[in-house]
Amino acid sequence: MDTENRMTTTHEDLLAQAERSLAAARAAAESDPLHPIYHITAPANWMNDPNGPVLYKGVYHLFYQLNPYGPDSANKAWGHVVSRDLVHWEHWPVALVPGPSAYDSEGVWSGCCVVHEGVPTILYTGVRPEVQCVARSADGLRTWAKEAANPVIGAPPRDDLTAFRDPFAWREGDEWRMLLGAGIAGQGGTALLYRSRDLVEWEYVHPLCIGFGQVWECPNFFPLGDKDVLVVSPYGPVQYSVGTYQEARFAPGEWHTLDLGGAADFYAPNSLLDAHGRRVMWGWIKGGGTAGRPWNGALSLPRVLTLTADDRVAVAPASELTRLRGAHSRVEDVHLRADGANPLAHLAGDTLEIAAELEVGNVDACGLGLRCGSNGEAAAQIVYERDGNQLRLNGTGGRLAPFLPDRPLQLRVFLDRSIVEVYANGRDCLTGRVYPNGNEGLGLSLFVTGGRARLKTMDVWDMGSIWEG
Ligand code: FRU
Repeated sequence: MDTENRMTTTHEDLLAQAERSLAAARAAAESDPLHPIYHITAPANWMNDPNGPVLYKGVYHLFYQLNPYGPDSANKAWGHVVSRDLVHWEHWPVALVPGPSAYDSEGVWSGCCVVHEGVPTILYTGVRPEVQCVARSADGLRTWAKEAANPVIGAPPRDDLTAFRDPFAWREGDEWRMLLGAGIAGQGGTALLYRSRDLVEWEYVHPLCIGFGQVWECPNFFPLGDKDVLVVSPYGPVQYSVGTYQEARFAPGEWHTLDLGGAADFYAPNSLLDAHGRRVMWGWIKGGGTAGRPWNGALSLPRVLTLTADDRVAVAPASELTRLRGAHSRVEDVHLRADGANPLAHLAGDTLEIAAELEVGNVDACGLGLRCGSNGEAAAQIVYERDGNQLRLNGTGGRLAPFLPDRPLQLRVFLDRSIVEVYANGRDCLTGRVYPNGNEGLGLSLFVTGGRARLKTMDVWDMGSIWEG
């Protein structure tokens, strides 16, 4: 779209144009056999970061970076989904699109949503250059008006920054605090701290802390247990640190990887405090489906974060997800050997939850094959390797928190067409994609190498769709 055309039109016209484009692509996106059914996706085309998760009058609102015009990363707008239970969702109209003013005509980038004096307020980054902007809703988050004084922060506080975006705000005492994702040339990734009374006039404080890498995108910062946690997306796997926040500075502890998958499989997460006081997080899972189908990107399942006794963040799927469970099968007490028959030969599906307890015995490795074809070959292999206590999905993965010798390996696996999320021992998680590439198999398999293991129990459920209506 050319900028000149935008100047003569209104935000409402541009929103309507975005909706028409999504409507035209929707059927082709949804009919793709690799399109997920129980992960949040845009109606069609491209999505990336979750934005502005907020609980408002008992209803969950979640926005996301959206390109209404194609399955590529361009024209960033804010899509919108709504839920009463964190599990079932409904698409709402696109909230914000670029333009018609120049300050965000090249993109409405990531940000947050807070409620100020009863008014739902979005803070986002307009481009280009990167400036900070405000939009408000007067009708319960359905439609949004951009602030007349935008951009509310029109320039970075120093001239050696490598990025200046992705506002994340929280209430502190009688004022608002906000972080912006940034990097300082020659020093490292950082999150810049600001303060405000009204979300419009902002005062720069200083960097919350400065650390590794070049840029920290999409900072998230919140108390967890009796500590504080900073989560950043550094153009690589998402990192978090448990530390202490005092006198407007964060003293980080060690940095750890939040998800054992790659940065393309879980990135730019965003979180909220839910009605039960839980910290719930979603991340962006990149990638589309069958070539030529107009969709790319999904959000992870809602994940509940808790602090462990050793100051790590444990990640578990929200308990409400059990509401999606349908037809159930159970397999129990099976001894597994390398040359044994596949005990799961009677099971099949591509929208499943699988909960397994495996006594890994003396094996070198054992695991689960997903989307197995008639030749028995799995399109995705979840492998536990005893050496190094590693969990891998098609080769990508990392070290699990210790659980041997006193406990079996506990896995909860969510397969949603072409998305796989693996949760291990109530603590670690690993996200990835599975592309059957012509092998449209639906089978499951269990395998071991170099020893014997025992499957204590395995429950398999067919999962239903999250979409209402
Ligand atoms: C992270 C990110 C953000 C930016 C947005 C643009 O994936 O690069 O830093 O605001 O995506 O879509």
